[in-house]
Amino acid sequence: MTVALRVNGEDVRIDVTDRTLLIHALRDHLRLTGAHMGCDTSQCGACTVLVDGVAVKSCAMLAGQADGCEVVTIEGLARDGALHPMQAAFAEHHGLQCGFCTPGMIMLGIDLVRRRGAADEATVRSELAGNLCRCTGYQNIVKAIAAGARDMAGAA
Ligand code: FES
Ligand code: FES
Repeated sequence: MTVALRVNGEDVRIDVTDRTLLIHALRDHLRLTGAHMGCDTSQCGACTVLVDGVAVKSCAMLAGQADGCEVVTIEGLARDGALHPMQAAFAEHHGLQCGFCTPGMIMLGIDLVRRRGAADEATVRSELAGNLCRCTGYQNIVKAIAAGARDMAGAA
């Protein structure tokens, strides 16, 4: 089947099987490897991308289900060489260690701002229930998302 997507601002058409997962369409067909395959069982959140603005675990969605949708991955966030405010907050607050979970955490953080605005740290903590960090760097991840949320809400 052919799937038409708008990915990071560009229209693309890819030929996939009915069973191809969105994560594989992004990584293997489009060479966008920022979304990571951590667990393949929709538990870790490392594969999180935005589909029509909503955070989605891309290992739990078929590429065909995203036909006609706008997809944003971590590669699509920076503008003209400037980091997205949520990316900048992770850098400033040391919200990563090995970095494996980081793309998913950042995409989740952006969706959290859409839904909850400038959320406090307690809210961020509860929202992070579906995203795991195997380095256990949660303290700084929470700080980074809360700071990024403040920056995004202030800029809106
Ligand atoms: S790889 Fe998708 S949730 Fe873990
Ligand atoms: S920073 Fe290593 S898994 Fe989160």
